[in-house]
Parts: sequence; C-alpha cells; structure tokens
Amino acid sequence: MKGVRRIIAVGSGKGGVGKSTTSVNLALSLVAEGLRVGMLDADLYGPSIPKLLGIEGRTALRDDGIFAPHEAFGLKVMSIGSMLVPGQAVVWRGPMATSGLRQLLRETDWGDLDVLVIDLPPGTGDIHIGLFQQTIVDGVVIVSTPQDLALIDAQKAIDMLRRMSVPILGLIENMSYFIAPDTGNRYDIFGTGGAEKAAARLEVPFLGAIPLVMSIRENSDAGVPPVSVDPQGAEASAYRLIAQRLVAGMPVSKAPF
Ligand SMILES: Nc1ncnc2c1ncn2[C@@H]1O[C@H](COP(=O)(O)OP(=O)(O)O)[C@@H](O)[C@H]1O
Ligand SMILES: [Mg+2]
Repeated sequence: MKGVRRIIAVGSGKGGVGKSTTSVNLALSLVAEGLRVGMLDADLYGPSIPKLLGIEGRTALRDDGIFAPHEAFGLKVMSIGSMLVPGQAVVWRGPMATSGLRQLLRETDWGDLDVLVIDLPPGTGDIHIGLFQQTIVDGVVIVSTPQDLALIDAQKAIDMLRRMSVPILGLIENMSYFIAPDTGNRYDIFGTGGAEKAAARLEVPFLGAIPLVMSIRENSDAGVPPVSVDPQGAEASAYRLIAQRLVAGMPVSKAPF
C-alpha cells in the first residue's frame, strides 16, 4: 500500500452496534487532528458508508480502470455501495468478495494518507480473513454496545484477531447511555459499563464511551456525520477524544503521523 502509512480497521462481531457510524466519525476526528485520512468500506454486503457520507450513486471508476476515491468532508472514500443502484444487493460467494475487496483496496488511487480507516462487516468471515491475510492492518478498534448479546460477539471478534495476530487497539462502548433531552435524566438503555468491564477481562484497552444521542442517528441518516456538523460540539467530543487516544497510542517507532 504505497503512500498509505497506516491502516486501522473498525470491527464489532455484531451488526447494528454502530460500527459504521463510529468509523466515519473517528475518521473525521482524525481529519480534525490534521491527518490525511482515507475511508474504505469493507462491508461489501451491507455498505453503509455512501449513505453516511452522502456519496450514493456515484461511480469511482476512472478511464484507466483505477478507482478514484470520492472526496467527502475532507476524507478520501471508497465503497462499492456508491456504485450500486439503490436497493441492489451484492450476491457474491466468498472468493469473489475477497477479490472485490482487494480491488477496492489496491486498485484505488489513495495518494498519500496518514491513515486509512476500514469499516469492517460484522462477523468473522471471508472478508475479514481475506483482508488480514492480504494486508498489514496496524490495528483494529472493536465497537460494542454494553449488553451481553453484543459483547459475546465482540469477544469472538477479539479471539479472531488474536488468532490472526492482528493488533487490537481497544474497545469502544457505543450507545453507552442516554440523556433525555427534556428532563436531563440519564437512562442506561443497554446497561452501561459492560464494555469497559469486558475490556478489562479480555485484557484490551478501553478507548471510551459514546452516548446514545438522537441527533447522531438523525444527522447520520441525513448524510452529515455529527463530527462534520460541529467538530467542537458535544456529539463530536466523544469521537474526538477516542481519536486523540488512538493517535497518542500509536507506537512512535513507526512514525505514523
Ligand atoms: N451513538 C449513537 N447514537 C444514536 N444512534 C446511533 C449511535 N451509533 C449508531 N447509531 C445508529 O444505529 C444504527 C446502526 O448503526 P451502524 O453504524 O449502521 O451499525 P453497524 O455498522 O455496526 O451495523 C444507525 O441507524 C445509526 O445511526
Ligand atoms: Mg456497518
């Protein structure tokens, strides 16, 4: 990966825990730290990045057969989803998905990037194996919600990474708690602190908590990520804090940024 200094993937085990939302906002937080950041959507069967970044229905293929990444909010972005007709499914067996991902990764003109953020699909399947075998991924961030059903799958994702010798950067608790906007009361909808306890038990760093906030969902659905709406605002701050921890935790020896 010439020109790409570092690759960070965001995974979870389970779907619907906020992996894509978190990866987009972490990538934008890294841009806010002054880094040159790319974003690759590796969730070939359920690509969310085009919707989250408002790049639906735009091809990225150049005349020379190389992909030119889309520019969105200061990110260079590649997703198979932007090239599909809305509602069109990707119906591929594993080997095809593996080679499709390789193409998106390697046949894209990323230019010079400080970090490429990869949004992983849920599970521990072909796409993960293909990616970790083909590419040196510098580290994976695991996103989980606080409840047992999500953490059970997060543990499996961590098990896979350990078996494949992929470094684990840490665990993020998403949808950690909800503050009712009308009363200011706090509700722990999925319980709280579960991911931090799991991180301690599994001996991985705990990177931080992101609250469940209605505007995060609303802005995400509208294709304007919360961190881009107001980088200094309350919604952005949870993501930015985690991004700053990631930057601070990078081994200096690799002179990443
Ligand atoms: N912290 C949050 N607060 C509110 N809604 C969230 C939060 N994180 C994610 N969501 C919403 O949850 C849904 C699932 O998130 P998504 O990022 O698609 O999950 P995954 O990629 O793990 O399947 C989306 O509708 C998203 O807007
Ligand atoms: Mg997703």
